[in-house]
Amino acid sequence: MRITLGVTGGVAAYKAAELVRRLQQDGFSVQVVMTRGAREFVTPLTFAALSGQKVITDLFGDSSGGEANLESAIEHIAVAQRTDLLLVAPATADIIAKFARGIADDFLTTLYLASTAPVVVAPAMNVNMWNHAATQENVEMLRARGVRVVDPAEGYLACGMIGAGRLAGQDDIVAAVREVLKTQRDLDGETVLITAGPTCEDLDPVRYITNRSSGKMGYAVAEAAALRGAKVILVSGPVNLEVPAGVERVDVRTAKKMHQAVSERIADSSIAILAAAVADYRPVEQHAEKIKKGNAPLTISLEPTTDILAEVAKNKGQRIVVGFAAETDHVAENARKKLSAKNADLIVANDVTAEGAGFDQDTNIVTLFSRDGRDLALPKMSKSEVAQRILDEIVRLRSVLHGTVASKRSGD
Ligand code: PMT
Repeated sequence: MRITLGVTGGVAAYKAAELVRRLQQDGFSVQVVMTRGAREFVTPLTFAALSGQKVITDLFGDSSGGEANLESAIEHIAVAQRTDLLLVAPATADIIAKFARGIADDFLTTLYLASTAPVVVAPAMNVNMWNHAATQENVEMLRARGVRVVDPAEGYLACGMIGAGRLAGQDDIVAAVREVLKTQRDLDGETVLITAGPTCEDLDPVRYITNRSSGKMGYAVAEAAALRGAKVILVSGPVNLEVPAGVERVDVRTAKKMHQAVSERIADSSIAILAAAVADYRPVEQHAEKIKKGNAPLTISLEPTTDILAEVAKNKGQRIVVGFAAETDHVAENARKKLSAKNADLIVANDVTAEGAGFDQDTNIVTLFSRDGRDLALPKMSKSEVAQRILDEIVRLRSVLHGTVASKRSGD
């Protein structure tokens, strides 16, 4: 999930640097936006280094002496569209007032108006400024609009006074973010091994057999599992996607390499979710040189690959093993067959011919077939939401099958 972190000009701006790290460790990807005031306290470079992303500073180009960093004059709209939550920490009295009154005179205030994402604000300021009727009125106005305000803590303030005004602790801010986004850490202590994307089976140095998988489904599951507190290992075929925050990716190309990567890591995992579209067959022969064109028909012999899912499920012990079923017909029947033939605990079935489902879509339409007999048909939803529902089902299933919600390792 993408958080845009607005940093405004207060002494507590340095604390936002730690917050970036913490949010990333929790599985969020963070885009930092700094106001002019914030840049008086901390340099954009600090946040760029920590977040691994360009820091946005100005609405119409960077006037801070750094590089011009706006890709276009409507960057605030683009950022607004890719933001799942806008967090402002620390939030000064000034930014709170601007948000409350709808003033849009810099990137952050413009983004606030342009975004429909939920907003969390963590104020930090002098105690008298915080208690001032104007600030309190503005804060109430934001609360009434649904903005989540993480109240400042009491204590010694940078100005030498004592009272409410210190930036709330990281735990409180992250808890508020999670509450607003409805993400819980119910996979804390779990190690989740996920496969995603296609495999490529080489015929010769130029040609290969592959399929339409983009990796989006498996990556969404990886991102969701990391957000829910799991250690996530993502064994990925060749795709064009960024590694989700907090996820360890292992790149592979062929079914054989995917099998090897999974075998080497499965022992440490308590949950395995195999979303990859693995080739069922590979060419018997991989030619060292390009196959020359001729006039006669060309026959290519294929041999079956190892069924990674079936292998993993063979000795699963307490590990929960989840497979997918990419079907074009008789979805329920085929999915149930796969559930039992492959000894899986859960099969996520999708009809890859349905509109808005399957390969390379941002949405999917799935039915979850569980080992305890429950079938859960879900409507069309984003792959991120599907991922959350799969994880919900795993948590439920685990407690039904093993009477526990979270155990660290498999029992095999
Ligand atoms: O990547 P996207 O573009 O987002 O598309 C998502 C998806 C359609 C790829 C995904 O939702 C999906 O259905 N993944 C499974 C694709 C597939 O190979 O399905 P299958 O029915 O052929 O295989 C059944 C299960 O066995 C799968 O969990 C698969 O990972 C596994 N398998 C298959 C063959 C093999 N040699 N080893 C395996 O582990």
